[in-house]
Amino acid sequence: MDGAGSSFFRERALASAAMTQSSHSPSMRDKLERLAMAREASEQGGGAARVAAQHAKGKLSARERLDVLLDEGSFVEIDRFVTSRSLADGEALIYGDGVVTGHGRIDGRLVYVFSQDFTVFGGSLSEAHAAKICKIMDLAVRNGAPVIGLNDSGGARIQEGVVSLGGYADIFLRNTLASGVVPQISAILGPCAGGAVYSPAITDFIYMVRGTSYMFVTGPNVVKTVTHEDVTMEQLGGADTHAGTSGVAHFACESELACLQHIRELFRYVPSNNVDDAPRGRGRDPRDRRDESLLSVVPDNPNKPYDMREVITRVVDDATLYEVQPDYAANILVGFAHLGGQSIGIVANQPAVLAGVLDINASMKAARFVRFCDCFNIPLVTFEDVPGFLPGVAQEHGGIIKHGAKLLYAYCEATVPKLTVITRKAYGGAYDVMSSKHIRGDFNVAWPTAEIAVMGPKGAVEILYRKEIAEAADPQAALDARVAEYTEKFANPYIAAARGYVDDVIDPRDTRPRLIEALESLRGKRDRNPAKKHGNLPL
Ligand code: HXC
Repeated sequence: MDGAGSSFFRERALASAAMTQSSHSPSMRDKLERLAMAREASEQGGGAARVAAQHAKGKLSARERLDVLLDEGSFVEIDRFVTSRSLADGEALIYGDGVVTGHGRIDGRLVYVFSQDFTVFGGSLSEAHAAKICKIMDLAVRNGAPVIGLNDSGGARIQEGVVSLGGYADIFLRNTLASGVVPQISAILGPCAGGAVYSPAITDFIYMVRGTSYMFVTGPNVVKTVTHEDVTMEQLGGADTHAGTSGVAHFACESELACLQHIRELFRYVPSNNVDDAPRGRGRDPRDRRDESLLSVVPDNPNKPYDMREVITRVVDDATLYEVQPDYAANILVGFAHLGGQSIGIVANQPAVLAGVLDINASMKAARFVRFCDCFNIPLVTFEDVPGFLPGVAQEHGGIIKHGAKLLYAYCEATVPKLTVITRKAYGGAYDVMSSKHIRGDFNVAWPTAEIAVMGPKGAVEILYRKEIAEAADPQAALDARVAEYTEKFANPYIAAARGYVDDVIDPRDTRPRLIEALESLRGKRDRNPAKKHGNLPL
């Protein structure tokens, strides 16, 4: 590996030092020359050949990534002169030890960053490398700023053995302690194996890049040896696998540039820490804008699907939704938006996919999102059209009871302002779960199209009147009559409204102004859970 003393670096550094016209003493000039040389050397990573190989794979270097992520010229490096603590005899000294760390700005806001350098020992994590990351995390928590990790690492540095495992554990502990204090974001920008995936797994959001980023506990070769399965890197741990199948990742991006840009956009919605306010939106969408088209979104036939995204984009500021995990459990939709300039977290059943039913994956996806918003004081707005929890052997054996309870727990526990709009179905347990009044919903309204009941009309009638229908001269006519009767009596929002379980039944066109009004009335909301060490979320 090219070392810090290579003639290439030396010549460049000397040339730049010579350019510094100096009236200083010769000794100071020497020192400045040495400093210039060392600074130059510290920016070369594993050398030009390895950087070229990185580029050839369609990947940016660790420093180039920071240039894209951060406001121009804002990066301040820390610990550039740290070197490995365990080099083998004759091994060249590499400044930085495989990770570039420091702080910079996104839209002027302070963020702490680390960017692993795959050109140095495959970005693997050594004792010194870990210590640099830990220092950044400690500073971030102390100063109330987010941590963004750009991961590109072969995991624990094999040559360092248990010391590098210890380094990982030091990071995992900090990830855990920082959770809910400052946002933690992970970009996976290369093959990340072993320990390199567990730190991102504890962070709040994971971004991956199609074709170049991978996450796995262990790669295809070991899989083949242990389980005899033949699998490619892409199938095992590519961006689409994790964003669409495992749910480990939140975003699969087309390129590194798109990925880093998407991370910047996230910061339009999230605060720097659990005490500061989220940034306000800059849009000019009128607060009192009514939307005529909301009258025609929900079909007359209650069994017909529609896209809840249409409702959301017509209500929020400038039709802009920053959707999280769009490719996973699409029967529930979560994401950030601004409403009247205020940052909100949206959770919405999606009738266009599986009729918007709550299943295991949807429950887990939404629960984690609700908890993120609650940690960082982002109000929750829920759009509800849910036929219930998904029945069936696969769901029961997969633990829908335990996983569905996660979403219930998350909503119950959340003390941020909670607003709910029931657009159509609110059936069964799902009615309770989706931010109902009973679990401290602050502002619960229904559209006139809402159906709030224990279950849908047909299912209810078949249970209540099975015998009567079976014995009728015309069973179909008997069923239809009972369904019509049940629909008239129960499938509407007025029984819930009569009890105060919804605060109002509103004209759909007024949804935006009504939600904005409610959000503002809840600005000073103070609510607390009982003092405890922590609860016992059904994991
Ligand atoms: C030291 C490593 C390294 C590692 C890669 N390198 N991984 N050096 N420790 N863990 C070095 C290589 O020797 C090589 O050096 C350079 O990085 C690039 O690696 P290549 O293999 O040439 O690159 P590529 O073909 O792109 O493959 C990347 C890779 C592969 C998929 C990441 O290198 C790999 O499988 N590495 C090992 C992954 C792993 O099993 N890590 C340990 C996990 S256990 P030269 O000098 O040739 O450029 C772990 C425990 C923590 O992390 C558990 C906590 C819960």
